[in-house]
Amino acid sequence: MTTAPVALETRSVVKTYPLEGQVIRAVDEVSVQVRAGEFVALVGPSGSGKTTLLAILAALLSPSAGQVLVDGHDLAQMNDAQRVAFRREKIGFTFQANNLVPYLTAQENVELMLRLNGQLDKAGRARAKDLLVRLGLGQRLHNLPSQMSGGQQQRVAIARALIHNPALVLADEPTASLDTERAFQVVQTFADLIHEQNRAGIMVTHDLRLVS
Ligand SMILES: Nc1ncnc2c1ncn2[C@@H]1O[C@H](COP(=O)(O)OP(=O)(O)OP(=O)(O)O)[C@@H](O)[C@H]1O
Ligand SMILES: [Mg+2]
Repeated sequence: MTTAPVALETRSVVKTYPLEGQVIRAVDEVSVQVRAGEFVALVGPSGSGKTTLLAILAALLSPSAGQVLVDGHDLAQMNDAQRVAFRREKIGFTFQANNLVPYLTAQENVELMLRLNGQLDKAGRARAKDLLVRLGLGQRLHNLPSQMSGGQQQRVAIARALIHNPALVLADEPTASLDTERAFQVVQTFADLIHEQNRAGIMVTHDLRLVS
């Protein structure tokens, strides 16, 4: 394991927000390394900066100080267009709110990531379907988000985060709407996919039982 390449590295990452004349230090000198094949849990109380850190790692938010390297690429060295393309190809994420496209079915939501990268072909469609089946959604492939439960929608979002083979997978509380048994299953499947395909994953969770 220790010989696997470093997929994500942060160096003293800081994020401050100005608030009513004060400065909030949402992220305070975070330095981490995650190797390919590792699945890491990010745990902390509400307001401790987990979502902010994830947004920085996803290149959606710039840090106030420090460096982020994904697959050896320094996000700060890219222009906006390069960062968008890099994010689309190398990074998969699920947000605290799952952000599915409401007028696309489960399968179409997953395929969207391939479509955006110009990679949607027959094999990609089959992979989207397989992923959804593996996440227990074989009966929901052609349903719209409004026709699915919160937990089912979250599983679609997980499939969407994995479908384009990103180097780095970021998940912000992907199991929040799931019952305990389903949460264990989904995290296990998530972990298996990350190990099998040698990605690096970071999952925010409040549930210490899932961490082990
Ligand atoms: N745009 C913003 N402007 C000002 N302060 C912000 C902004 N976004 C987040 N914060 C503050 O930064 C801190 C970290 O927020 P963040 O959303 O990263 O926490 P979190 O660990 O994800 O919390 P939760 O577990 O509740 O989701 C909080 O104190 C929050 O109020
Ligand atoms: Mg959060």
